[in-house]
Amino acid sequence: MWTLSDYLLSPLIAWPASIGFAVYFIRQYMQGGQFKKETNETGKIVIVTGANTGIGKETVRELARRGATVYMACRDRNRAEEARKQIIKETKNKNVFFLELDLSSLSSVRKFVADFKAEQNQLHVLINNAGIFRGPRRLTEDGFEMQLGVNHLGHFLLTILLIDLLKKSTPSRIVNVSSLAHAMGKINADDLNSEKSYDEGKAYSQSKLANVMFTRELAKRLAGTGVTVNALHPGVVDTEIFRNLQLAQSKFVINFIKPLFWPLLKTPKSGAQTTLYAALDPDLDDVTGLYFSDCKPKEVAETATDEKVIKFLWKQSEKWTGAPRVF
Ligand SMILES: NC(=O)c1ccc[n+]([C@@H]2O[C@H](COP(=O)([O-])OP(=O)(O)OC[C@H]3O[C@@H](n4cnc5c(N)ncnc54)[C@H](OP(=O)(O)O)[C@@H]3O)[C@@H](O)[C@H]2O)c1
Ligand SMILES: *[C@@H]1O[C@H](CO)[C@@H](O)[C@H](O)[C@H]1NC(C)=O
Ligand SMILES: *[C@@H]1O[C@H](CO)[C@@H](O)[C@H](O)[C@H]1NC(C)=O
Repeated sequence: MWTLSDYLLSPLIAWPASIGFAVYFIRQYMQGGQFKKETNETGKIVIVTGANTGIGKETVRELARRGATVYMACRDRNRAEEARKQIIKETKNKNVFFLELDLSSLSSVRKFVADFKAEQNQLHVLINNAGIFRGPRRLTEDGFEMQLGVNHLGHFLLTILLIDLLKKSTPSRIVNVSSLAHAMGKINADDLNSEKSYDEGKAYSQSKLANVMFTRELAKRLAGTGVTVNALHPGVVDTEIFRNLQLAQSKFVINFIKPLFWPLLKTPKSGAQTTLYAALDPDLDDVTGLYFSDCKPKEVAETATDEKVIKFLWKQSEKWTGAPRVF
């Protein structure tokens, strides 16, 4: 007869079992801070950019479950409709809508804002989530390097054009999904648009640093208005973000390397937690200009606080996007 201790000592069972448990606990631990407060968001109007997949889609799902009216601002109608139908079916919240927004086109940003304003005269939360990561140098419709254009300039114009509605709907919030990668970033003032030389990694970090800088500047400009703006790092999340990385598409990496990282990756649901925290936590009503990670404040990189660079970037972004002077 085998006793329990025989089982535990058997290398065939004990070893794989303890590795299994260890992997499971590491995975659980790596899911990071979770936003657990129950809130009722009925009556709140929210926009989420890049909401058809990944972190954005999970954010919409949770907002819908809490009763909010959510606009999914996406560039691909089919993908967005598919996600929207699924979320409505699951949450039974019919107030989830799609409005086309391609952040790589300033005219699309303007059209989106006009379409939105034709439907709603309030906006309580703007979640700037859409983003692209790396890839060969491509240009937006208006000639901007794609990562700077989508991650920063498109969102810059979008945010500025929606400021009036946000101000009318206070207390209201802007939430910017940035990245820890901002810490590696540098604003290349001589070649902001990567015309002289292009490095996909540097262009990403630059665009995410721009997000953090603008969050700080905007928070200053909005001080006392009842509109808050905060940025965040979602964690390292298993989404489609790696789609432009050639290496990540190889069969070898998918079958042999990625499983090794599996315990270290957040699910999209966990990846959405800090966004939800920044958007909804009642304790944050007066908190502005901060950067969060794992549902708590975190210091930004020193480079993100350089006032001279922040001013330069703001001016340049106003000029390139033709954004109106609302401050
Ligand atoms: N995943 C991570 O580990 C990680 C880490 C740090 C920061 N982040 C940030 O988190 C945010 C969300 O990323 P994710 O991980 O959820 O990535 P994802 O699964 O690739 O989702 C990105 C979303 O952005 C949309 N998008 C891309 N270009 C767009 C454009 N021109 N106009 C409108 N929408 C556009 C995508 O739409 P399509 O499906 O139509 O392309 C998609 O809905 C990004 O800002 C990213 O930088 C992610
Ligand atoms: C949320 O509040 C609304 C009214 O403001 C109410 O109709 C609804 O039942 C509430 N939902 C939940 C889940 O409590
Ligand atoms: C964050 O907010 C600022 C100011 O509104 C904007 O310029 C910037 O592009 C935003 N970043 C993202 C990712 O939305």
